[in-house]
Parts: sequence; structure tokens; C-alpha cells
Amino acid sequence: MTVESVNPVTPGAREPSEPPVAGGGVPLLGHGWKLARDPLAFMARLRDDGDVVRLRLGPKTVYAVTAPDLTGALALSPDYIISGPLWESLESLLGKEGVATANGPLHRRQRRTIQPAFRLDAIPGYGPIMEEEAHALVERWTKGEVLDVTAEAFRVSVRISARCLMRGSYMDARSERITSALATLFAGMYQRMVVPLGPLYRVPVPANRAFNRALADLHRLVDEIVADRRASGQKPNDLLTALLEAKDENGEPIGEQEIHDQVVAILTPGSETAGSVVMSLLHVLTEHPDQVDKIREEVKGVVGDRPVAFADVRKLQHTANVVVETMRLYPAVWILTRRAVTDTELGGYRIPAGADIVYSPYAVQRDPRSYERHTEFDPDRWLPGRSPKLPKYAMTPFGVGNRKCPSDHFSMAELTLITAVVANAFRFEPAPGSDNRTHIGITLRPRRLLLRAIPR
Ligand code: HEM
Repeated sequence: MTVESVNPVTPGAREPSEPPVAGGGVPLLGHGWKLARDPLAFMARLRDDGDVVRLRLGPKTVYAVTAPDLTGALALSPDYIISGPLWESLESLLGKEGVATANGPLHRRQRRTIQPAFRLDAIPGYGPIMEEEAHALVERWTKGEVLDVTAEAFRVSVRISARCLMRGSYMDARSERITSALATLFAGMYQRMVVPLGPLYRVPVPANRAFNRALADLHRLVDEIVADRRASGQKPNDLLTALLEAKDENGEPIGEQEIHDQVVAILTPGSETAGSVVMSLLHVLTEHPDQVDKIREEVKGVVGDRPVAFADVRKLQHTANVVVETMRLYPAVWILTRRAVTDTELGGYRIPAGADIVYSPYAVQRDPRSYERHTEFDPDRWLPGRSPKLPKYAMTPFGVGNRKCPSDHFSMAELTLITAVVANAFRFEPAPGSDNRTHIGITLRPRRLLLRAIPR
């Protein structure tokens, strides 16, 4: 499948057909109840019904793309944009002018502004902060208390993103406040996206009050950070400087609202995704103590007895493979959506203008048609030459195309370093009350992991 195959229908070409309706729908509700009850299993089973299938969600028809090549074609085609009710509710919480929800020329300009901060050659500049934060985990965890992994993982991912992308010593205290605001927001955002009850979320019950307070605090914090940076007169080489210096299509400085929304739009989803992967990694290290030993062996071979440094990361191939295999089985972004902007075609199936389309990296990355022993955790499948037949786009935890995560190199460096540092220092055991079942929200992660870190 190529990008060409999703172009609008051309005269004389074979007429595209209607995609089949997925099995298992019931009158009135269609597939909605199955999707709501067990979304991961539901999305994974759709491939048996076709490469593209139609879902009935109440009165609405939604298209699901299940074949890896077609998910790539979808993400690469200009016929589909980011839009739809889920994105609209995200905008109403986080702001309308951020890169994650913009389309067209605005999106292209915003990507050009932020991209340099995430380029491969910019990543070593973040090394000292990533090192400091990874080693700080070891110091915090040596006290032998039960670790609330959800809190710890969000904390480290927020701190790394905030401190690297918006440098300044003032960030230390602020990143604690950002962490606390975002932790509350992550808990309530998904519900507000999938069950948009509007005014009901303003009813002053404790959960709504906490959510609204955290949202207001996040927006206030971002304003403070921007104001402080301006007042300092400093222009370190970071994302915030890039945003403050950015020009619009007319060569004018971008507006205050856009700067604000950009910071929120980058920090919020970025921290939730990276934090979720840290949680899944700790789950995997607990379930697979042999992997902890293998990582430790690799680390010792590379660094000996000195602390793991950022510069070591590129030599830690097995550790990186553990991170990749974790993201295969537990992709933080488990579902993605697009909207067709024109009548078009995908894999020989007709997609009408305005159609909402979903696909699931979780389903694609666990598909037995692409992966042998598809549910088995095996980091060695990523050894060079071991996955020669993997279909294109069968492994896309960071997405593809013009919306691909800008932070793929940044996140891989961060996650590999954290994994190396903590596996070198501890083995992990579940503590009483730990619940490692999957939590499905905006991201996918363990529900409530409580662990003991046992020093080696
Ligand atoms: C977009 C995954 C970390 C910032 C995305 C998308 C995915 C993704 C799948 C594409 C969404 C789509 O196609 O619709 C991940 C994963 C991460 C991670 C798995 C960690 C392991 C981060 C971090 C940041 C970040 C740390 C920033 C601090 C963004 C932004 C976008 C994005 C700004 C929107 C890009 C656009 O629409 O042009 N991410 N992400 N991500 N990610 Fe990440």
C-alpha cells in the first residue's frame, strides 16, 4: 500500500466498495457497548473482519483501519486531518492554538518552530538533566518505602520534559507544581473527552473542584513561566525561546495565546505518554526479573562501577530493546483518530468526506499476522536481522507522517537511561494492593502499580 492508493477516486478507476460492517453489533447500540466494555480486545478482534471495517456507535458510523500498511497510508495522506469530538474536548481543556490539534499551514509552521528542540543533535544537550533526574529516582527509592509508581512515573516524566524544554533554575519548584496539576488532570481528562457532560463537570463536587483547580493552576503556571523567562532577559537554546521568538506567516511574532497553548499542548500529552511508558517499564521489570539481570549485565559491561551516564545510552542496545518491546505490547497511545476531509479511498474501500476513522497501535502491534509469539515479551526480537519480515507500519508507537511524535529521540533517550539506571540499582517486587491490570484512558498504563524497590 502506498500513499497513492488513498488518493481521491479517479475517473475510470475501479469503483471502491463500502467496507464491511464489523461483526458483533447489537440493535440501537451497535458496537458501542463492546467498545466501551473492553476496548483493547474489541479493537484487536476487528482485523478478522477486514482491513477496513465500519463500526456503528449508536447512530454514528465510524471507520476502523486494522491492517498495518493502511494505518501508515492513513497517517501519511493529506486527505485526513486531526478533528472530531475527542479533539474538540481536548481543545476546550488545553487550548485551541497548540500543535497537537492544529491542521494545515498553522500546523506546519508550528512544527517548524518546535522541531529543532527535539532534533537528534539537540538531545545530548538534555543529557545532564536526564541523568540528574534518573539518578534522583534511585536516591528517592532507596528509602525502602512502597513506591506509588503512578505518581513516581508522572513526576519524573513531567520534570524531565519541563526542565529540558523550558530551562531555568526556577523550574525546579515549578516542576513540582506542574507535576501535581498534571497528575490530577490526567485522572479526569479522559472521562471528559469520552463522556462530554459539559456543565455537569462544573457541579462543585470534590472531584470536579480538584480537576478545575488543577487546570487553572496549570494555565497560571505556564503564564508565570513565560513571564519569568521574559523578565530574565535570558534566551537559552530551548523550546521556550523558540516559541517566544517564533514568527507567524506574516513575519510577526506569534500571539500570547499561541505561546501559552503551545507550552500546554506539548507538556501535557508529552508527560502523560512518557509517564505511562515508565509505568509499563516498571511493570515489565517486575514481571521479568531475568530482564533486570540482563540489563544490569549490559550496564556493568559498558560502565563498570561508575554511575550510568547519558553518553552510555547509545551503547545499551539490550536496554533500548526492552524499552521498544515494552512500547510494542503496551503502547501509551493505544488509539488514534483522524477525519476525512474529502471523499476518498483506503485499501479499495470508500471513505466519505467527514468520516471519523480510528486505528489502534495496540491492536496492530499485537497482531499475530505480523508478530510470531505476538503476546510474548521478547526484547531480542528487535536484534538486528531478527525481524526481517515485519510489515511496514506494524510498529509505530510514536505514530507516522506529519503528526508523528516530535519527541521520539528525546523519549527513547529518556526511557533507556531511566531503565538502565533503575534496573542497575534495584530489582522490583509487587507490594500488597498493587493492581497491574491495564488502565485505559487517554493513554494505556498499569492501573495502580505499588512496588518495592529492593537494592541489589
Ligand atoms: C504526538 C506518542 C512522548 C510531544 C504523538 C503521537 C504519538 C505520540 C503516537 C502521534 C499522534 C497522532 O498521530 O495523532 C508518544 C509516546 C511518547 C511520547 C509513546 C513517550 C514514550 C512525548 C513527549 C513530548 C511529546 C515527551 C514532549 C515533551 C508530542 C506532541 C505531539 C505528539 C507535541 C503532537 C505532534 C503533532 O500533532 O504534530 N506522540 N509521545 N510526546 N507528541 Fe508524543
